[in-house]
Amino acid sequence: MSTLLIDGVAVPRLWYGTAWKEDATEGLVAQALAAGFRAIDTANQRKHYHEAGVGAAVRTALAGGLARDALILQSKFTFASGQDHRLPYDPAAPIATQVAQSFARSLEHLGVDRLDSLVLHGPSQARGLGPDDHAAWRAMEAIHARGQVRWLGISNTSAAQLDAMVAFAEVRPTFVQNRCYAERGWDREVRARCRAHGITYQGFSLLTANRQVVADRRVVAIAQRHAVAPAQVVLRHALDLGMIALTGTRDPVHMRDDLAIATLVLTDDDRAALAAVAPA
Ligand SMILES: NC(=O)c1ccc[n+]([C@@H]2O[C@H](COP(=O)([O-])OP(=O)(O)OC[C@H]3O[C@@H](n4cnc5c(N)ncnc54)[C@H](OP(=O)(O)O)[C@@H]3O)[C@@H](O)[C@H]2O)c1
Repeated sequence: MSTLLIDGVAVPRLWYGTAWKEDATEGLVAQALAAGFRAIDTANQRKHYHEAGVGAAVRTALAGGLARDALILQSKFTFASGQDHRLPYDPAAPIATQVAQSFARSLEHLGVDRLDSLVLHGPSQARGLGPDDHAAWRAMEAIHARGQVRWLGISNTSAAQLDAMVAFAEVRPTFVQNRCYAERGWDREVRARCRAHGITYQGFSLLTANRQVVADRRVVAIAQRHAVAPAQVVLRHALDLGMIALTGTRDPVHMRDDLAIATLVLTDDDRAALAAVAPA
């Protein structure tokens, strides 16, 4: 997979997403690593992720000779409002303590002593940032200051919330991770703010949020010309728009197909057709 250079580190352009895999998590992450994925996204949010399952596969891969430096590991801190009863921290504790407890559990789950990226799963309120967001970010900055995480990020953010976080942060976000809707210009507004702030955008649900694009006859025609699947065209288009793309596939054949977009070269005509389907 092609890479982006971030702070001198080669970061893959396609990441494996581990949400909603439950008991299959360990096996699927093992398959993804075997297929060649070298960046894994998870969260310490048992409601949607099985972080310990991710860790079981990572431990095996590291014990089998995969170098820790060759693997990008990203997890998230999730406020109690986004969790079920299986909380990774004491909900009565101050937010800073919750972040510290959640992060410590992430390290335990994943069997590592540092993460590459720690993401605030989403602001605590629909508009703007509140005191909990500020407290969480300061606690994430403290983890960063201890050298236990290389980069910080924010997810499910609006453009205005991102601007507010950049203004507040002492350690600015390196990543934004958002659901990327083609019908919103492939999250045009947030991507523009990312470019302005020097932040790398990670797009998720590129396939599930854009089923009409994947099924569009013009996208199908592009895929046929290149002898690939429409899903691969959409993921490649996301890379061409400058994003890191996430894929949540559970199918080992799709894992290899998704990684193969590294060598898929879309033509100017393809790009014009994609722009007609959903302008960026
Ligand atoms: N920050 C957040 O709040 C947040 C929220 C949601 C998700 N995420 C992250 O983003 C990751 C991906 O999310 P997602 O699962 O919604 O995204 P997705 O990758 O858009 O959707 C996965 C779907 O696409 C299909 N697919 C993948 N590759 C394919 C291919 N080559 N051909 C045909 N179908 C293909 C999969 O089917 P098969 O299994 O059959 O391949 C599956 O149904 C999650 O696992 C998680 O890590 C983050």
